[in-house]
Amino acid sequence: MNTAHTPTLSKDSTDRPLGVAAIGYAFMGKAHSNAWRNVASFFDVPAFEQKVLVGRDATQVAEAAAKYGWAESATDWRSVIERDDIHIIDICAPGWMHAEIAIAALEAGKHVLVEKPLANTLGEAELMTAAAAKARQRGVQSMIGFNYRRVPALALARELIAEGRLGTVRHVRAAYLQDWLSDAQSPMTWRLRKETAGSGALGDIASHAIDQVLFLLGDAVTEVSGRLQTFVDRRPGPDGPEDVTVDDAAWATLTLASGAIASVEVSRVATGQKNSLKLEIYGDKGTILFDLEALNELGFLDATVPVREQGFRRILVNEPVHPYLEAWWPQGHIIGWEHTFTHQIRDFLLAVRDGSQPSPSFEEGLNVQHILAAVEESAAAKSSLIQLHANPTEGA
Ligand SMILES: NC(=O)c1ccc[n+]([C@@H]2O[C@H](COP(=O)([O-])OP(=O)(O)OC[C@H]3O[C@@H](n4cnc5c(N)ncnc54)[C@H](O)[C@@H]3O)[C@@H](O)[C@H]2O)c1
Repeated sequence: MNTAHTPTLSKDSTDRPLGVAAIGYAFMGKAHSNAWRNVASFFDVPAFEQKVLVGRDATQVAEAAAKYGWAESATDWRSVIERDDIHIIDICAPGWMHAEIAIAALEAGKHVLVEKPLANTLGEAELMTAAAAKARQRGVQSMIGFNYRRVPALALARELIAEGRLGTVRHVRAAYLQDWLSDAQSPMTWRLRKETAGSGALGDIASHAIDQVLFLLGDAVTEVSGRLQTFVDRRPGPDGPEDVTVDDAAWATLTLASGAIASVEVSRVATGQKNSLKLEIYGDKGTILFDLEALNELGFLDATVPVREQGFRRILVNEPVHPYLEAWWPQGHIIGWEHTFTHQIRDFLLAVRDGSQPSPSFEEGLNVQHILAAVEESAAAKSSLIQLHANPTEGA
């Protein structure tokens, strides 16, 4: 199997291709592996090799490694981090492992890409961010995988908002709804235990929705009010019924430094909604609408044209002038969800090559984590308003 990707330029001091190891081979491990496999076929990126895929079960991870294009597999992530031929650690493991792996990898001088949310607790996220800041001084980069920033239509939406096409943004609606827990007999998983998942729909999908609000507006959150609800509080576990210790759904209103207000609504029990991320941004000069189920499209209303001509138009975000799309197919040959991970790897590799800070940084992940913690704090205090120290969000 040839796992070496055609070199374009490598800033590795030894001029070797960058050695990559991914930890976790299930849902995100597969999505990231797919991106590592195809990124060099479409984008000019530094030379790298898919060296090692890490998991717990030796047979299963070996099978996954062979299938997803990794040269080797391993079961001990610590020994992989110590290897001299590994330069990048891609963490696709559950949240309870993020801090331990990321901090060890950064201390060993490895560039780190970690899946969202940054960590399960604010304390872990702070330690990770401190380790990232220290590593950056030695030229070691780190990034969190909020992949929806790499949907071309959302990257375009951010550009249009930054150019003032919506005027002053007044309010945003962000809804991320799923239904994979609608069935009360759906069994326990690590995602339903606080000690392994940190929180439920909140950390899992509100983290994406909140990151999008910050990304699209380039703004910062100053106040938070929240509410959490667990509708099914016991589910079948391996040894009988088990308590669910995280939320099924969460609601929040966010005040932004600009004065705009965002409403965030997330659920994993929204019957019929499979993976529905919808964003609506309302300004005094226009409106933008996005629906992940039609991710190549952006709805745009320009309120500066005469009212008799106004109406939402559908921009097919599939032109070479649109973000990321020059590298893909001829115009109108649409792309999908998996392409966001390819774009994410591309941006991460270019930052590693250039020695620049990739975005979203761990600081930005920590910022989201502060907002998630404020939602929990507010929910525990009958939705009272929690003040936050505002940190502006960097662009992608
Ligand atoms: N960006 C997105 O859209 C998105 C979607 C889903 C999940 N995620 C995030 O990705 C991360 C992983 O979620 P998932 O859905 O892929 O989980 P998963 O349960 O499907 O996979 C977890 C993987 O981690 C591995 N793992 C667990 N313990 C390990 C250990 N000690 N050593 C090595 N490997 C170990 C497992 O073998 C498995 O391969 C989470 O942080 C989650 O929030 C992101």
